[in-house]
Amino acid sequence: MRIITAKYIFIDNEYKENMAIAFNRKIGRIDKLDILKKDFNDAQIIEFQGEVVIYPGFINLHTHLEFSANKATLKLGDFIKWLYSVIENREELIKELDNNIIEFAINEMLKSGVTTFGAISSFGADLKACAEAKQRVIFFNEVIGSNPAMVDALFSDFKIRLQESMEYKSQKFYPAVAIHSPYAVHPFLIREVLNIAKKENLLISTHFLESPYEREWLESGKGAFREFFQRFFNTSTPVTTIQEFLNHFKNIKTLFTHCTQATKDELEFINNHNHSIIHCPRSNRLLNCGVLDIKEVKNLLLATDGLSSNYSLSILDELKAALFLHSNIEPNSLALNLINSITTNAANALELKVGKIQKGYFADFAILRVPDDLKDKEDIPLHSIINSKVEAVFIDGQRVI
Ligand code: BEZ
Ligand code: FE2
Repeated sequence: MRIITAKYIFIDNEYKENMAIAFNRKIGRIDKLDILKKDFNDAQIIEFQGEVVIYPGFINLHTHLEFSANKATLKLGDFIKWLYSVIENREELIKELDNNIIEFAINEMLKSGVTTFGAISSFGADLKACAEAKQRVIFFNEVIGSNPAMVDALFSDFKIRLQESMEYKSQKFYPAVAIHSPYAVHPFLIREVLNIAKKENLLISTHFLESPYEREWLESGKGAFREFFQRFFNTSTPVTTIQEFLNHFKNIKTLFTHCTQATKDELEFINNHNHSIIHCPRSNRLLNCGVLDIKEVKNLLLATDGLSSNYSLSILDELKAALFLHSNIEPNSLALNLINSITTNAANALELKVGKIQKGYFADFAILRVPDDLKDKEDIPLHSIINSKVEAVFIDGQRVI
């Protein structure tokens, strides 16, 4: 057993003082330092001096590492222009990709305190780097394809990728599935992939109502997506409606990413079915997709999205952007909600032993130094976002930064 302590420890969404954590790979006990010292008298003690907060390791559940070679190849400013540029350039971006580029992206997350991330994998090109990452990884094998003629081939390819990822399954690596979106996945594929997810007990993620174009297309078969589908798929009818798509997820807990264009009723459906919403504010802003009404979200998860639609994978950068984007919410309460969105809420969504400092949970910690002159405990969440430095990171009980 080892013991770690600092002025503040984030336990049950509060900043507890005079506490310490005894841990191996998992958290063994949480108590006062002198009690733990007595009970584990040969334990090594790791003590951080000054204004330091021990958080559970941060969780970033939505990124696309396969697009990590992008800086300015893909067009920003408009979702549909961006999508055209993805189709046009994805092969070139994948060709430029190598393990160093992916490792650099993974390391950027680590340096910002991320100890668990979710990688949406479209091709499997990021499998090896994710399996070797220091962090815990939820590896979302993605299925995409609305064209009925392609469905069988795409389903076979998906199953092969899923099978390959299953070989790495461990307490650090969790194979999972992603259904790209309502507009790009044929209902047959959705049903089959959800059946596999249910049978194998895999986590599920999907993009949902990211842009106004998506809503217009699904509702009326019109707008910029009509031209897109005519050009690439020779079709002018969407494969599903919004409600039909949602109905697939009535009995299976899912992570819905973006939802910027969801109505109050659709958000309520998501809330009432025990789902979570992944919010990527910088990506939404850069693709001009609108702003998620986070006040209407029951279990909010903040994430960076990929370098395909963002300029960094630092979760601290994302927290800052979210703080400024949601200017209709009082900053101190928003800051605490945002901290919860990368810790406690993620724990609720994942049902893995991550995201909380609690007995039996993995000893994954993000340790932040906040300003020395911080006087009031109530100011910690805000300063953790605007004014902190990552002091150390632990994963599985090992110090990695
Ligand atoms: C589709 O198969 O419908 C699709 C694939 C890629 C992007 C958008 C749509
Ligand atoms: Fe995404």
